[in-house]
Amino acid sequence: MILITGGTGFIGSHIAVACLAAGKQVVLFDNLSNSNIEIIDTLEKITHQQVSFIRGDVLDQDLLTTTMQDFGVDEVIHCAGLKSVPESVDNPLRYYLNNVQGSLCLLRAMQTCEVKTIVFSSSATVYGMPSYLPYDEAHPTNPMNPYGSTKLHVEQMLRELAQSDHSMKIMCLRYFNPVGAHESGLIGENPKGIPNNLMPYITRVAQGELPYLNIYGTDYPTKDGTGERDYIHVMDLAEGHVMALDYLKSHPGYGVVNLGTGRPYTVFDLVNTFQEISGKTIPYEIAPRRNGDLSSYFANPSLAKQIMGYETKRDLKSMCASAWSFQNQLDIQ
Ligand code: NAD
Ligand code: UFG
Repeated sequence: MILITGGTGFIGSHIAVACLAAGKQVVLFDNLSNSNIEIIDTLEKITHQQVSFIRGDVLDQDLLTTTMQDFGVDEVIHCAGLKSVPESVDNPLRYYLNNVQGSLCLLRAMQTCEVKTIVFSSSATVYGMPSYLPYDEAHPTNPMNPYGSTKLHVEQMLRELAQSDHSMKIMCLRYFNPVGAHESGLIGENPKGIPNNLMPYITRVAQGELPYLNIYGTDYPTKDGTGERDYIHVMDLAEGHVMALDYLKSHPGYGVVNLGTGRPYTVFDLVNTFQEISGKTIPYEIAPRRNGDLSSYFANPSLAKQIMGYETKRDLKSMCASAWSFQNQLDIQ
């Protein structure tokens, strides 16, 4: 039985689908601070299976412990966390409490229940300013904001735990830029308020909810001057977690693995591909660079392939098409 913290969130809900599709059982644990309970019904509709859910906070160690005991949990995927970079700059202590202390409570509950396996949602943001590209897992880590620091702190805690207990099976997955939605279009990324991230912003412009896209900088040293990122389809990302759990079964210890495609795309690449697949025009305005943005970064994805046979399957068109399909389903609801 897999406990998925943050299981009703964007990434957690897709991981739940991937786990159920692989014949695994899951219990989702979430305080619903950034997601909705309705997702459970939707997950049941997609998977035709019953989905167990506990509403709770990862700061509540007792509830985590009883949940693990009640459901016979033997593996954990830890996605619960706050993820806004600007919010973390304004309120770093909230991020340390939720992300670091929350992870600590989870690990202590696991210790009580003798649960040894955990896959952690980390981020490429731990690398910071690139010394070289693509980033491989050996690249120095130097996060540029409190959100990234919380991810690195949790990675360090996990590494030290694995050093103290050789039966632990731990993998930190450093996500690049997850976008898109499940092929059904029934679940996807639905941020509250005005989106910070590029893909949900584009879908809301396409749908007419926002007038135009701001393109933050056209003077970067990239092929068209806009920022370059390694966008990864959220279902590819989700399937990486199933493969990570399978890998950990026979590989105790601690590991860090990038989950990206290795292929960078610019803002204009995304806008053009989205226009092509949706038939919608995306009006845009050129805006100054966004504070804290890097020009370009992308993954060296070879370790994931080498150790667990992982390769992404879905291309940029599929990312755009599924994101657009999800936006259209939202409008119907
Ligand atoms: P999300 O906000 O959609 O999902 C996170 C979920 O965690 C939400 O449902 C929220 O309600 C829940 N949550 C937050 N704090 C909690 C707490 N204290 N107790 C219980 N539940 C709590 O975000 P997401 O995009 O699905 O991200 C999932 C994880 O992946 C996060 O840890 C995030 O930092 C990491 N990550 C995301 C990205 C990205 O671009 N989306 C990139 C790298 C890493
Ligand atoms: N961008 C725009 N207009 C927008 C939004 C974004 O031009 O309205 C540009 C950005 O300048 C950047 C690219 O689109 O060049 C991607 O921006 P996103 O906000 O989608 O993604 P980021 O790479 O900035 O941030 C993501 C996650 C963060 C994480 C960071 C580093 O959202 O949580 O990657 O891993 F910290």
